[in-house]
Amino acid sequence: MSNKAKLIIGDNSYEFPLIKGTENEVAINVKTLRGATNGVITIDPGYKNTGSCESAITFLDGEKGILRYRGYSIEELANKADFLEVSYALIFGDLPNNEQLAKFKEDIKENSLVDDDVRKILEAFPKNAHPMGVLSSLTSALTAFNPAFVNISSEEDMYNAVVRILGKFPILVGWTMRKKKGLHLNYGSKSLSYVENLMYLMFKHPNEDFQMNPIIKRALDKLLILHADHEQNCSTSTVRIVGSSHAGLFASLSAGISALWGPLHGGANQAVLEMLEAIKADGGDTKKYMAKAKDKNDPFRLMGFGHRVYKNFDPRAKIIKAAADEVLNDLGIDDPILEIARGLEKEALNDPYFVDRKLYPNVDFYSGIIYRAMGIPVEMFTVMFALGRLPGWIAQWKEMRLKNEPIGRPRQIYTGENLRPFTELENR
Ligand code: CMC
Repeated sequence: MSNKAKLIIGDNSYEFPLIKGTENEVAINVKTLRGATNGVITIDPGYKNTGSCESAITFLDGEKGILRYRGYSIEELANKADFLEVSYALIFGDLPNNEQLAKFKEDIKENSLVDDDVRKILEAFPKNAHPMGVLSSLTSALTAFNPAFVNISSEEDMYNAVVRILGKFPILVGWTMRKKKGLHLNYGSKSLSYVENLMYLMFKHPNEDFQMNPIIKRALDKLLILHADHEQNCSTSTVRIVGSSHAGLFASLSAGISALWGPLHGGANQAVLEMLEAIKADGGDTKKYMAKAKDKNDPFRLMGFGHRVYKNFDPRAKIIKAAADEVLNDLGIDDPILEIARGLEKEALNDPYFVDRKLYPNVDFYSGIIYRAMGIPVEMFTVMFALGRLPGWIAQWKEMRLKNEPIGRPRQIYTGENLRPFTELENR
């Protein structure tokens, strides 16, 4: 294949270089397009055909159902590593050795307190506030308690920022849930691992000893790993674009949390459960909801189905489905919601509407079922996704800043009024 692309506009022809990735993905580099063509730009709503960067963090092949972080397959990582090992690999490029991992875990523990004044901010929120709004606000508020900007050219500065946010985030997650449940706000315990501590922060009751359930712990670890990065999705692109103005790390993460909240992105895990509950309350007629999803005059979509990139299967959904079966069996939970989910999945996988459009269950179709079995309230599901995605956002922010990428600033094609005279108020 030639390493150039030819573009013909009217009588003129232009050549643009091709860029090839390490997995042979190809892009046309249009950096010089506007200058060379006297103002012509490309337009691509939703960026369905637009690469925003070159990145060495995550590779995914939507046709083949492949997902790899830093070259390691998601299947191996989910089965062999823990969340902090995966976080280290995402942020620093390689899996840590024993010494690096031990230090990383210790440094995160050393940073696992937040200023007690954060508690006052949380207390000001109404109890029925959505946890994602609360989490985004508290993450932004951390900037006020850690005002020093990360000096991106200092490895030490960046490392300290990483362990600081990874240490503090589980407290924000735990407190957000405790506030919702009306429980007192606790600090975790340094004697526990990261995921154990998260469970302690979320589930420790004031008048009971804390019982660690190893099945839940392993499933939670796996879920966090599966969510840890997903290349240039909506929230990650948000983190990169906010950071491209040289806004700080915590502020950029807070923006990412807001982007994740929407039901077409991370909010889908809450929307799936609410949809399954609604179908159950309506008599469990899955066929009725399949018909609604296919009706172009009905805004209803089958939540947890379809993906911008995966057009065969979502490899994360495969792992989660197996984990959901394991958790429900081990905990002895017989959830009627699961039957509805299985029914919908079976029908969709055999329905030409879904087959032709390559719509398959995505990561969120089963994650909510596991969270529910763990006793996590439905409004907290997307918060769990945010904690999982944290290392990915940090890795992408760091990569973008280290490459000194220009400020993200798309152009547009204006379609409004042409110049017209101002009409005085009395004449309008
Ligand atoms: N139910 C019914 N129809 C659907 C669905 C669905 N869930 N998803 C896509 N379609 C149809 C859509 O109507 C369109 O049909 P047509 O070609 O006849 O107009 C076609 O499939 C292509 O859909 P699209 O909206 O152009 O595709 P997209 O790449 O812009 O959207 C998506 C991807 C994930 C936003 C979409 O599939 C969706 O809304 N799914 C439900 C929400 C969901 O589960 N989101 C979680 C995604 S995974 C977690 C994450 O990483 O964010």
